[in-house]
Amino acid sequence: MQNQRGCFITLEGLDGAGKSTHVQWLVDRLRDKGLQVLSTREPGGTALGERLRDILLSCDMHAKTEALLMFAARCEHVIQVILPALQQGTWVVCDRYTDASYAYQGGGRQLGSEAVQQLESWALNGLEPDRSWLFDVPLDVARQRLASAREPDRFEQEGAAFFERTRAAYHERVNTQPERLRLIDSTLPIEVIREQLGAQIDSLVSHWQARLTGSTA
Ligand code: TMP
Repeated sequence: MQNQRGCFITLEGLDGAGKSTHVQWLVDRLRDKGLQVLSTREPGGTALGERLRDILLSCDMHAKTEALLMFAARCEHVIQVILPALQQGTWVVCDRYTDASYAYQGGGRQLGSEAVQQLESWALNGLEPDRSWLFDVPLDVARQRLASAREPDRFEQEGAAFFERTRAAYHERVNTQPERLRLIDSTLPIEVIREQLGAQIDSLVSHWQARLTGSTA
């Protein structure tokens, strides 16, 4: 991204993978380093996006409609919130982004990665995350964690085959973009995950700052 000075971080995982437990912790760790950080989520992140989220999580619809609405919400989010923040030097931490569409719509709903890729290139002006973490758990663990959570939404009500396809599509993304999308074994104890994540964040921050210093020198 040209003129982009903030770093764009996204967190991914199946429903029940434990991703949300780490979002605020990660944001706090970045803020402790003196960084300006915006924490946001998808679908959502704008007034329109949050309305689309309500629809996406509750109304039955065709898989293509679902994909279009995900990208409608994302387009608005990128233009109104994410890009302006990055351009001001703010770090953006987003709970889910386009990898989720590759996984859920491309894999789970079987639209395929090409359809998602077309929407991505048309709607997002090429904005990709600089770093992403996939919180990965086997399906039975995710489902066990979900069972003890709140009333399931439209996605959470899907069957095992849907989530197997979704997880496989996430793994495919990790395999094709291992530098950007890092896998975290989310069955490990929280302290161990935070130790691993913390080390990777510290290294990301030093590299990012060194790059900026280099580019302004
Ligand atoms: P959340 O529970 O992590 O807030 O996400 C809401 C649901 O939306 C979750 O089940 C995954 C789904 N989702 C997609 O299917 N495609 C997407 O592109 C995104 C961002 C989320």
